[in-house]
Amino acid sequence: MAQYPIDMSVKPDVKAFFDEATNTISYIVKDPASNACAVIDTVMDMDYAAGRLTYAHADAMIADITTRGLELQWLIETHVHADHLSAAPYIQEKLGGRIGIGKNITIIQDTFGKIFNEGTEFQRDGSQFDQLFEDGDTYQIGTMTAFVMHTPGHTPACMTHVIGNAAFVGDTLFMPDSGSARADFPGGDAGILYDSIQKVLALPEDMRLFMCHDYGPNGRNIQWETTVGEEKAHNIHVGSGKSKEDFVKFRTERDAQLGMPKLIIPSLQVNMRGGKLPPADDDGKTYLKVPVNKL
Ligand SMILES: [Fe+2]
Repeated sequence: MAQYPIDMSVKPDVKAFFDEATNTISYIVKDPASNACAVIDTVMDMDYAAGRLTYAHADAMIADITTRGLELQWLIETHVHADHLSAAPYIQEKLGGRIGIGKNITIIQDTFGKIFNEGTEFQRDGSQFDQLFEDGDTYQIGTMTAFVMHTPGHTPACMTHVIGNAAFVGDTLFMPDSGSARADFPGGDAGILYDSIQKVLALPEDMRLFMCHDYGPNGRNIQWETTVGEEKAHNIHVGSGKSKEDFVKFRTERDAQLGMPKLIIPSLQVNMRGGKLPPADDDGKTYLKVPVNKL
């Protein structure tokens, strides 16, 4: 951990916005020493059956930032989500800031560019984003120095963002009673996910961990915050010293039984473009494709 600039004395103010439709948690992370903030993993609302996109979830975040008089400096994607569409460009248009994602977005653009048979006008170089992060990169949110840990396995581009004593793990971990996310999407790997989880668990015990998803297992209320210490002791998939071998076996068997997320097809087409819709068709309207028998 020595290479990462951990500073537990910085305690960002974290406000969560839960999206019931996709069980996603978006965050506004504010610097306590200035009015600077970042948003993490925003959500665009989609009624897929109707092909309708709306922005109630994003508008609530925009209203909160505006009401508090905050300056939005970053819009962070922990990874390319397969279960919801990002609202980052919509929020950026209204409030500014830079959209950042892991550098391996290019791998995902290559994979899904083929699956959706995108033409050469779809750039696979990550240029739809303002910043491509590599492991160990740092960036500023006001007076706070955030850093990035590459935590692949769920997808090749997954990053954990650490801001003071708060780490945003994306889908690298779930709450202790929920374990971990699937590792069977193209480019996913259960063994690599296990190693990435160990990286997160090597952070200080009292590091606050913020989840990207929670499904409230066994009827409990939705939760999104825990600590490294809690995950190490109690995570049902990787806690109390479970071996990599056991994890890979369990994860592989479980993933084989999972269906595709409801919104994977629209999500990937939009999120691989940094949250932007595909170019309009010759009638000036926007369409999303459904690749038949390819996923
Ligand atoms: Fe995900």
